[in-house]
Amino acid sequence: MKKSVLVPLFAAMFLAACGQSPIKPANAADKAATAPAPNGIQLPADYADWRLIAPAYRSDKQHVRAILGNDTAIRAARAGNTQPWPDGSILAKLVWKEAPHEKWPTAMEAGQFVHVEIMVKDAKRHAETGGWGYARWVGKDLKPYGKDAAFVAECHGCHMPVQDADFVFTKPVKLP
Ligand code: HEC
Repeated sequence: MKKSVLVPLFAAMFLAACGQSPIKPANAADKAATAPAPNGIQLPADYADWRLIAPAYRSDKQHVRAILGNDTAIRAARAGNTQPWPDGSILAKLVWKEAPHEKWPTAMEAGQFVHVEIMVKDAKRHAETGGWGYARWVGKDLKPYGKDAAFVAECHGCHMPVQDADFVFTKPVKLP
């Protein structure tokens, strides 16, 4: 075998011996250990690798947000098939405090992490809340939000103004 083949091979073997596959998805192992929400919903281990549905900004809270979707949600968003979103769709909203860039203060970056929250579509299982299961994890240590499963009333109640959009505020961005 040529040296050019052996070097990457040994590097891969070394990483494997350390328990780290070189193609492991970002953060997967850490997120698998996250405690479930009080209603039993788990934070999907690969959520950080999902694709963008839309960015968002809350001017009252000075928060920047990214709304991501799993493969089912992205397919539905691209096809305009969101009335209703199909079962299996998961939307994730990642929230940070805005922070001015140190070299360009009017450029707002994602600063301190606030929370990640998800909506999981399963029309039968979550029939009482419009077909969506809600869950939120707060802060860097991803602490599950809510004293008990009743916390979803707060989520669903605030999503009522967009009942006609299948309870989803975010409009998938249109790409040229
Ligand atoms: C005070 C009102 C309010 C409450 C309470 C609320 N939301 Fe939302 N939610 C919004 C608004 C407004 C948006 C639109 C995007 C944004 O916030 O920038 C949104 C967006 C989302 C999204 C992205 C999909 C969408 O609808 O646009 C998810 C996921 C989400 N919320 C989950 C939750 C969960 C889980 C809870 C409860 C733990 C919750 N929300 C509670 C107002 C609320």
